[in-house]
Amino acid sequence: MQGKRILLGITGGIAAYKIAELIRLLIKSGAEVKCIMTPASCDFISPLTVSTLSKNSVAINFWNKDSGEWENHVELGGWADLFLIAPLTANSLAKMVSGLSDNLLITTYLSAKCPVMVAPAMDLDMYIHSTTKRNLALLENDGVNVLPVGSGELASGLVGQGRMLEPQELFDRIQDSFKIKLTFEGKHFLITAGPTYELIDPVRYIGNHSSGKMGFALAKELLKRGADVTLVSGPTKEELSHNKLNLIKISSAKQMLNAVQDVWKNVAGGIFSAAVADYRPKTVADEKIKKKSEELTIELVKNPDILAWAGENKKNQLLVGFALETNDLIENAKSKLKKKNLDLIVANSLQNEGAGFGYDTNKVTILDRYNNLVDLELMKKNQVAKSIVDIIEQKL
Ligand code: PMT
Repeated sequence: MQGKRILLGITGGIAAYKIAELIRLLIKSGAEVKCIMTPASCDFISPLTVSTLSKNSVAINFWNKDSGEWENHVELGGWADLFLIAPLTANSLAKMVSGLSDNLLITTYLSAKCPVMVAPAMDLDMYIHSTTKRNLALLENDGVNVLPVGSGELASGLVGQGRMLEPQELFDRIQDSFKIKLTFEGKHFLITAGPTYELIDPVRYIGNHSSGKMGFALAKELLKRGADVTLVSGPTKEELSHNKLNLIKISSAKQMLNAVQDVWKNVAGGIFSAAVADYRPKTVADEKIKKKSEELTIELVKNPDILAWAGENKKNQLLVGFALETNDLIENAKSKLKKKNLDLIVANSLQNEGAGFGYDTNKVTILDRYNNLVDLELMKKNQVAKSIVDIIEQKL
């Protein structure tokens, strides 16, 4: 950590007192540490302790009351190699998400050029509240590295999730974050995600339950490793913004095919995780179909197979498909791998609890064309994405 510049943001939670130990560990490792405190955090740890341990003055207000000088939040945000906000209270979390910059810490967050990491700490009920969950997800989508919380006794006397990670663990996370290598720098990847909607009439469509979570997790992992990413996504609630991301929102399979065809020749590889509707109505009614007869038959025609098209037009590119099965998982996946000219296939089965559509988790088996097989446990989709990208990295 020698010479690494760490900016610590301290917000007003009881866990703030633990930051003294984190600063000590950082200084011992050779890092340079500067701290910004919210006014509320000064009730939990004294600025004198923080400035003494960090060997730097502490920024609290928009102007320095002693010198009368303006605290330059842009400068602080530009100085750091990493900005860790710990503890992060529910209040500061909400401010970060909405850009409510009524203190120096939040204005610095909005000006920061470096990676931002947060260590939430709050009471059990606050942590599991849907508002907090939503805000943490939004923060993650904004590219912030949201650390998990620990479990145990909380300041309220309740026992459960919500404790800030211990100083040593925070230190390890900071250290690890500098080890992430930008192995995909200069490489452009294409990802398909989410469902496709095939119109029946102006108000109805044929679709499926894909949430887009798997594809977005893959995009995030590639971006983290420095790739340029074009993400072609069907309708989803997932959101992602990043300066290296080109997000193309489509609705139907034909639109997805067009978007893929536009970029395919420019990419180093593609990961096709979308759940594309195999068929679409032969004709789309101009007006809402009226409820006249007891039965209604809709004639369907086959949609283009987008992955198969990419396989046919592959030139020195790495192509990864998915296989969603309900039976004979490995056999069916192997057949798709061969038929669509893939380098890798990620097989998941709806038979496995917690795998497939909608869940935050997935259980996958990754196969290559030489019959090598990696069978993963049920894990969070971001972990699955990490494992898939690790294998792609080896293949590249
Ligand atoms: O979005 P989530 O809720 O996170 O769920 C993730 C997921 C279950 C959608 C994902 O893990 C997954 O399995 N995606 C592939 C779903 C699918 O349609 O599988 P398939 O076996 O029918 O298709 C095989 C492959 O061909 C897939 O890579 C698919 O993207 C592609 N395909 C299929 C049909 C078609 N017309 N065009 C295609 O590109």
